[in-house]
Amino acid sequence: MSEPTGLHVEIVTLFPELFDSFLAASLLGKAIASGIVRVDRTNPRDFGLGKHRSVDDTPYGGGPGMILRVEPLAAAIDHVETQRGRAHRILLSPQGLPLRQAKAAELATRQRLMLICGRYEGVDERVASLYADEILSIGDYVLSGGEVAAAVVIEVVTRLVPGVVGQSESIEDESFSSGRLEYPQFTRPPAFRGLPVPPVLLSGDHAEIERWRRQEALRRTHERRPDLLVAHPVTEVESRLFKGKSVPGGGKSG
Ligand code: ADE
Repeated sequence: MSEPTGLHVEIVTLFPELFDSFLAASLLGKAIASGIVRVDRTNPRDFGLGKHRSVDDTPYGGGPGMILRVEPLAAAIDHVETQRGRAHRILLSPQGLPLRQAKAAELATRQRLMLICGRYEGVDERVASLYADEILSIGDYVLSGGEVAAAVVIEVVTRLVPGVVGQSESIEDESFSSGRLEYPQFTRPPAFRGLPVPPVLLSGDHAEIERWRRQEALRRTHERRPDLLVAHPVTEVESRLFKGKSVPGGGKSG
C-alpha cells in the first residue's frame, strides 16, 4: 500500500501519452516523485466497442464530425472508481464554467479529482448528464480536445497543494488570489539596455518596497484588467497607499 497522497488525479483520455513530459517535468514531476501528487491515466479506447474498439460515432440528427460515445467513457469512469474509489468528476469542455483561481483553490482541497477529456466534435450529452459533477472551460476558445485543458487544471490545482510549491508566500503573493495582477519583478542586472530597475527595489526599505509593489499591482490591474476591479474593488488599505495621488480604478484617497 502506498502512502496517502495530497491529491490524486484521474485523467480519462484517448491520448494518455500527451501528458508524459508534462507530468515528468519541474515542480509537478517532483511532487509526483515524492508522492504528494498522484496521477493515473485511463484510456476509454480500452473500453471501446467491437473488434475495433470504436469510441465514436456520427451525430444523431446529422451534422459534421464524430461524437464520442457514452459507453466507452462510462465504462472507463466506472472502472476507475471501482478500482480506486469515487472522485470529483470534471468534464473539460468549452461549454463549462470558466476556471478561475478561486475554483482551483476549492479543487485543491479535494482528495480525488477526475478529469474527463473530450475529443472529436463533441461528447455525447449523457456523459455530462450522468457523470459530470461539474463542467469546466479554460477559456472562450475551442481546443481539439480536453487534454490541454486538463493539463491546465492539473497545474493550477497542484500548485496549491501543500508541499508542491516551495514557499507558500510565493503562492499567496501571486496574481488573482487577491483579485490583483502581480507587481513587476526584477533581478540582476540593475540596468539593461538603458532600462534601470526601479530604485525603490534597491533601497533596502522594506516598507517602501511593499507600498510600491501594492501600488504597481493596482495600477497594472487597472490598466490591463479593469474587470478585476469590479469584482474586487479598491480596498481601504490600497486607497491609503495612494494618499495624495489618484487611485487607479476610483475609490477613496485619504
Ligand atoms: N475542450 C475544448 N475546448 C476546451 C476549452 N476551452 N476548455 C476546456 N475544455 C475544452
